Formats: sequence, C-alpha cells, structure tokens
Amino acid sequence: MTKIAKVRAPYIKTELPGPNARRVLEKDERYISPSYTRSYPLVIKRGYGPVIEDVDGNLFLDFNAGVAVLATGHAHPEIVEAISKQAAEFVHISSTDYYYEQLTDLAKKLGELTPGDFAKRVHFGNSGAEALEAALKVAMYATRRPKFIAFFNSFHGRTLGALSLTSSRSAQRRGFGRQAVDVTHIPYATCKRCAYGKQPDSCNVECVSVIEDRLFKTTVPHEEVAGIVVEPVQGEGGYVVPPAKFLQALRAVCDKYGILLIFDEVQSGVGRTGRMFACEHFGVVPDVICLAKALGGGLPLSATVARAELMQWHRGAHASTFGGNPVAIAAAMKTIEILENGVMENAVRMGERLLTGLRQIADRHADVVFDVRGLGLMVGIEFVTDRVTNTPDVALRDQIEVEAFHRGLILQGAGESTIRFSPPLIVDEYDVDTALEIFDRSIEAAKAAVRAGKTA
Ligand SMILES: Cc1ncc(COP(=O)(O)O)c(C=O)c1O
Repeated sequence: MTKIAKVRAPYIKTELPGPNARRVLEKDERYISPSYTRSYPLVIKRGYGPVIEDVDGNLFLDFNAGVAVLATGHAHPEIVEAISKQAAEFVHISSTDYYYEQLTDLAKKLGELTPGDFAKRVHFGNSGAEALEAALKVAMYATRRPKFIAFFNSFHGRTLGALSLTSSRSAQRRGFGRQAVDVTHIPYATCKRCAYGKQPDSCNVECVSVIEDRLFKTTVPHEEVAGIVVEPVQGEGGYVVPPAKFLQALRAVCDKYGILLIFDEVQSGVGRTGRMFACEHFGVVPDVICLAKALGGGLPLSATVARAELMQWHRGAHASTFGGNPVAIAAAMKTIEILENGVMENAVRMGERLLTGLRQIADRHADVVFDVRGLGLMVGIEFVTDRVTNTPDVALRDQIEVEAFHRGLILQGAGESTIRFSPPLIVDEYDVDTALEIFDRSIEAAKAAVRAGKTA
C-alpha cells in the first residue's frame, strides 16, 4: 500500500462556518437547487488522504469520503497522475460513437473482477442512478417482462426509473406522481427489526418466501417479473448487513422463475467492505451488478456489468455521451490497482478496529445505542430514544453529526437514525482512534443538547 504524506486532523481554528465559508454559503443559498440534502456547513478547499481543509484553513478528518466515493482518499498522488496523464492525451471522444482501448480494458477488468465465471458485457454511465437505469432496461429487454421487485429502505438513485426502485424516504418521491417503472417493494432482511416479528432461531427467511407465498399469488405474477433489485448491504437505508441466507434464497427464487438477480453495489462495491464486492461475503452471484461511486476514483463513472447473453440488445437501445469517459477510466484503473495492492486488507483491519471501538462506545452509551454493524469500512451505529421501545432517535442522530462536525470529524447519517462510517479505505490506526474519540465526545454533547432542547 502506497504511503501518502499525511497532515493530521482535526484542527479547528475558526468558528464554524468561518468567514470564507459563510460567503460561499450565501451564494449557494441564492444559486443552488434547494433539493440538496446538506446536514452542516462544510465548505471544502482541498483534501489530502483522509483530511479535508476548508476554505478557512480548518482541518477535518473525513469519515464519509464524499459519500463512500474516495476509496483511496483525497488527491491520491497516483490517481492525480493517472488523471493528468490521460487528460493530456484526450479528455473525451464519446464511447457511443467511437472506439478507444481504455473502455475495453476496464470492461475486461470488471468482467474478471465481478463474481461469476461466465462471459460478461459492460455498459458504462456516469452515476449510480444511470447504472440502475441500464440494469432495468437490460432486464426488461432480455426477459421481455415489465415488473420488478425491490426492498423498502433501499436507495437506487433519483432519476425516474431508479426512483421507482428507491424507497428510503418519502421526500424522494413526494411531488413526482406515479412511479415510472412497475416496482413492488417488500421488507429487507433487517433482522434486528424483522418485519415478520421473527428471531434468528424462528426465521424461515420470510422476507424472501413472501415473494412466492404472497406476491406471486396475488399482485405480481411471476412470469411478469424481469428482475429483483437488491443492495447486498443496504446503504442509505442504514448500513444494514443481511444474513447470507437472504441473498441465497433470492438467488433460488430467481433461478426457479427465470428472474434476473440484480445487485446494486453502487455503495458497497469496489473495496468498501474489504472485498472487491460485498456479495463475495455471501457467496451469491448476481446476473447483473451495478457499480459507481468508488469506481471512478472520484470522477463520475458507473458500470452495469451483465451476463453477456443478457446484454444482447440492438444498436441504439442504450448509450450515453459521457459514459465511460477516458479520464474517469484512467482513475478507475488506478483505483483498482491501488485497492488490489493492500488497501482492501487495510479496510478489513481498520474496519475491525472501528467496529470494536464502536462496540465499546455502544457499551458506554447503552441507553441510546440500538445496534453496531458493518463489513469492512462500511459501518453503522443506530440510535434510539430508549432501550425499551427502541424508537429511532432522529434528533439525537442528527445532533451527533453536527457535534462531530464542530469537533472536526466528518460523518453522515443513513437510514432513520443511524450514523454511517465510510472513510477512505487508506485510513490508519491514528485516524480510526481519533474518529472514535471525537465520536464518543460528540454523543455526550448531543445527548446534553437534546436533553436541553438546544439542537442545531
Ligand atoms: C446503493 C446506491 N445505489 C444508487 C445510488 C445512486 O447513485 P448516484 O447518486 O450516483 O446517482 C446510490 C447513491 O447513494 C446508492 O447508495
């Protein structure tokens, strides 16, 4: 693993937001779409490794990585070099109409890396939502069926097709009428809050058997279902890790009825869980896998990787002017190379350290912590108002995020009341221990603020 010269964070020297940040926030307030979902006023100037410097010279420890994107951290010198080199050659030509070897090299690499010992083809896009759009179209075209099954609390993007799959918040749907694609949602394998009231010893994977026992017999005839779309680890829904039997049972239903199993690994893929893809932890191979976020090393790039025999559509059926941009591909190839050179092992070790530390914090705050869970460096901790009703404590979770920001730690919420930890995969012991220490103090401060009714 390449050692990156690091500045240690945090170091907060102004009030937050500082004077320069306030200037940007005023402009943002005036010119930027109010639909964005910022939780606190971080205004970045530059970043190095796991450190962000804001426009006022404050240093933050970044445990969000631009929403699970920057696997190798900010401004990794090898990524910067790969980007510059490709930019000096050619920045764009459009894969829709022209050929270039970079496109084929990454497609070949993804075909080899993704699970499944069979021929694959790749369609490139620019965002997670686009990866899902392509998957929906591949599945509809290949099966000639119109319907999909997806899961509550899932997030698959906000374009109209992807939005039909997304079900993590009503705010994402409100105002946009009926869904564009015919999707039926069922509960995810959130075992600690099992929708069927089961415990691990009484579980018969009802969250999958409901498909055959209920949906196929009532509203969703199996011969009309093109695909089941699922996140192997639920991301925006709260970093929920399902048991392996959930994904295995989904695979079995798909095989039985000729339905495609589509894994959305936009957030969990490309090293985040300590394996190249989260589904490797469960030993389940999908027919289609969607990738984005970390894939482009910080540049916009997505890929929909499908069994070759499924991606047999006519010219013009699907394409994107910018999809598979050569500069983004250069960053992707370098990202994969870096991950394969020790960074995923680091994610496993640091993930264990983070989980252990969070479990100790959970013990100290047993009155408000419901669960700590995760794989690799995809780790969540869920907060509740009390340990009798286990009601999600949204106010406390939101306040913890703000308290952490003011102490120089960048975190983000997921699900109703979970804090997610998705740092760059190159973090070291110092970073993890520092984050844990700040997080502990932030919980203490947030509890006091919520009790006093003085939340941000
Ligand atoms: C699992 C998953 N799928 C799809 C998306 C959508 O990605 P994008 O925001 O790049 O469209 C996200 C974004 O968070 C995601 O986590």
